[in-house]
Amino acid sequence: MKENKYYLKCVKCEHITPDFGTWFEQNQICPECGSKHSEVWYNSDYKELPLIIKGNPESFWQYFYYLPLSKRENIVSRNEGAVSLQKWWFLEDFAKEKYGLDLEVLVYRNDLNGGTGTFKDVAASLAASIFKENDIKQYCVASTGNTATAYSRYLSIAGINCSVFIPDNALRASEAMISAFGQRVFRVKGDYAKAKEIAAAYSKKHNILISSGNIDPIRVEAKKTMVFEWLRQINKMPDVYIQAISGGTGPIAIDKGIREIKSVYPDLKNPRFIMVQPDGCDPMVQAWEKATSSGFPDGHENDYPVIDNPKTEVPTLATGNPATYPIIAKLVKDSEGTFIRMKECKLVPIGKLIAYERKVILGPASAVCVAGFFEALKKGLIKNGETVLLNTGEGVRRAPDFVDQMIYTTKNVDSVDECEPHNIDSFRKQLWDDVLSE
Ligand SMILES: Cc1ncc(COP(=O)(O)O)c(C=O)c1O
Ligand SMILES: [Zn+2]
Repeated sequence: MKENKYYLKCVKCEHITPDFGTWFEQNQICPECGSKHSEVWYNSDYKELPLIIKGNPESFWQYFYYLPLSKRENIVSRNEGAVSLQKWWFLEDFAKEKYGLDLEVLVYRNDLNGGTGTFKDVAASLAASIFKENDIKQYCVASTGNTATAYSRYLSIAGINCSVFIPDNALRASEAMISAFGQRVFRVKGDYAKAKEIAAAYSKKHNILISSGNIDPIRVEAKKTMVFEWLRQINKMPDVYIQAISGGTGPIAIDKGIREIKSVYPDLKNPRFIMVQPDGCDPMVQAWEKATSSGFPDGHENDYPVIDNPKTEVPTLATGNPATYPIIAKLVKDSEGTFIRMKECKLVPIGKLIAYERKVILGPASAVCVAGFFEALKKGLIKNGETVLLNTGEGVRRAPDFVDQMIYTTKNVDSVDECEPHNIDSFRKQLWDDVLSE
């Protein structure tokens, strides 16, 4: 008999679960030790990977051999996960002019994903495919917005019911999208932690599978393909990786991807992880600052604050109880990276600057990431000659209020005498000043 393509292995006790069918029957926990954290491994020698990486993918399904799905016919895809890394000259020029640094600044444009235009699309595509293969008909998820919309769309394409629990500050446009696909929205009176609590109880009561959060092996496997994509596009790992963080599947998945392909890419190592949070919801930054000032005592990873009902302009990032901090803090420390905060009052100025300089309109969580780049430069966290990758998670589709705030060239007129031609360059200085002023 042909051996299975993949299996799951418990990170705590190494217990093997043969496939996702069994994993779901086990309620997505290790039957030996009860841990939720298992990783997927493949019965492959990876010799084909360098060849596959040279291909021209339409989606992350290019890496089918290294994804936990048995049959291609179960793939549910909308061209996600093969988005381009773009060089952002205006950031390179800025680093050169202001700090004398020669950098390569690349932006991983998740808004270009075909499903819902966020970096949650790959996970939703893999999840829908695995559920289809395992005949799952009901699923539920608590989400601050982007995971919910992505899962709602992909699961509905596969004919799977998805109950979605969103906190009361979730964006109305997320709610509308989920609802429009015919999935049930439960808007919970409370914060994201409360939404998770009710979702967990619902899952138990109705015996419905629930997303198991940032260490969910489905999410991790989907996102690890970023490593393959970067090898394809730049033939290396960046030196520095910047992301707006809420729960932190990004760094967990990058680390997993690099470990997975050690046999064929022995020299790859994690980039320095620079994790950014907005000042309205920054529990990980607070924990990190405390650990730094006390010299990283034993167990520092388990010492983090919980912010109830965080008040933030970026509901997508409103994880007040950062339960994954112990895992992320270790990855960040081992990579010699750090956690930094950005000021929310800079969100709109940064959104405007990106739209002006690059002619793309990104969403607020992406502005948090780009703000992280400016902060990192200011703090001297980036060295000359380095390649910096900004993982921007979303466009602006679901944040119409954010775009409204970007209007700045309008003149209200009632006669032609008040209308003069303009020069687009005349706006530049003010836009930069607004981003850089203290
Ligand atoms: C656009 C965007 N950026 C960043 C994040 C944070 O991602 P993570 O939960 O992996 O920390 C999210 C999560 O919802 C997101 O949607
Ligand atoms: Zn175990």
